[in-house]
Amino acid sequence: RTLRIGLIPGDGIGREVIPAGRRVLEALPLSTKLQFTFVDLDAGFDTFKRTGTALPDKTVETLNKECDGALFGAVSSPTVKTAGYSSPIVALRKRLSLYANVRPVKTVAAARSPVDLVIVRENTEDLYVKEERTMETAHGRVAEAIKRISERASLNIARVAGDLALRRQRVRDTGAPSIHKRPLVTITHKSNVLSQTDGLFREAARKALADAKFQAVSVEEQIVDSMVYKLFRQPADYDVIVAPNLYGDILSDGAAALVGSLGLVPSANVGDGFAIGEPCHGSAPDIEGRGIANPIATLRSAALMLEFLGEEEAAAKIYAAVDANLVEGRLLSPDMGGTATTEAVVEDVLKRL
Ligand code: NAI
Ligand code: MG
Repeated sequence: RTLRIGLIPGDGIGREVIPAGRRVLEALPLSTKLQFTFVDLDAGFDTFKRTGTALPDKTVETLNKECDGALFGAVSSPTVKTAGYSSPIVALRKRLSLYANVRPVKTVAAARSPVDLVIVRENTEDLYVKEERTMETAHGRVAEAIKRISERASLNIARVAGDLALRRQRVRDTGAPSIHKRPLVTITHKSNVLSQTDGLFREAARKALADAKFQAVSVEEQIVDSMVYKLFRQPADYDVIVAPNLYGDILSDGAAALVGSLGLVPSANVGDGFAIGEPCHGSAPDIEGRGIANPIATLRSAALMLEFLGEEEAAAKIYAAVDANLVEGRLLSPDMGGTATTEAVVEDVLKRL
């Protein structure tokens, strides 16, 4: 199988870590029978300054018509409000119908406080429909925003979570070491207060996960505020967490703090038959151009993309090589307390592949 992958480095260290992702994909062992062709695509703040748009139509069209998946680095946001600028990744999620954002957070074997969880965030609605308005009233200005939850999107995202829980169990069944013994999905909401919107999310998620297909999956619920508390106290209790857009956004970044460096945490934006891998860090202007960015978030994002394109075996090879690098701990980048360059980390992972 030949996969055609769009590469969108973006700004800053995106340009250092995306080439690392490409090299690791190219180096996948022949046994995976996978081949890749790559197409370089523009997006980001530099693109905006050059062309007046942060997301050229050509990038979206090429992804849509010619690609099976993509890797997205990071983009810088203007520090002052800039007319005409809007975030390319938010636009890409919309224009390619990438309705799920998936963020695995995992420590490697023998960590003192082990974590192995995935947050599945609904990516299209909730408060992020951005339908806000401000009114002048007799008592001053009042602003309000629509929180939209649909049964359809909630059913969909819960199925993504259920499928992921089953897939993670399949990997465990092959003997991969794990802190979990059975698949678990935790539905996060605030339906005790928002009985209609979050109530619908909860009800739809329950309904989707009651399907016979998910019989092996345990389903629990957690109100989002106590979810935050428990996530930080007992992260090992969680396997797959599914949440509406806003809670998922916050939980995702919070969970990333559990593993030490932003440079380790991957994500994927997933739709039907398409996935964009994206490290969860930004463009890191403070270390840009020095060749010391940690490539691991991107390498894991490449693996995550492959998983959602149905290439679980190839993904597992990348995860294993990265984990082996971390466990040995000899070649770590500065964010991990080491002195290795991006190049040295990538070479080590390639050697292990
Ligand atoms: P950031 O994630 O770029 O950096 C935060 C800190 O973590 C910095 O000290 C940085 O050096 C370090 N860091 C991040 N990734 C690293 C890696 N791979 N290896 C080693 N160290 C790493 O977040 P910050 O500084 O808040 O934002 C910088 C720019 O990135 C801003 O313009 C922001 O808008 C943008 N950004 C873009 C995102 C995206 O494209 N998805 C996400 C977050 C921020
Ligand atoms: Mg975020």
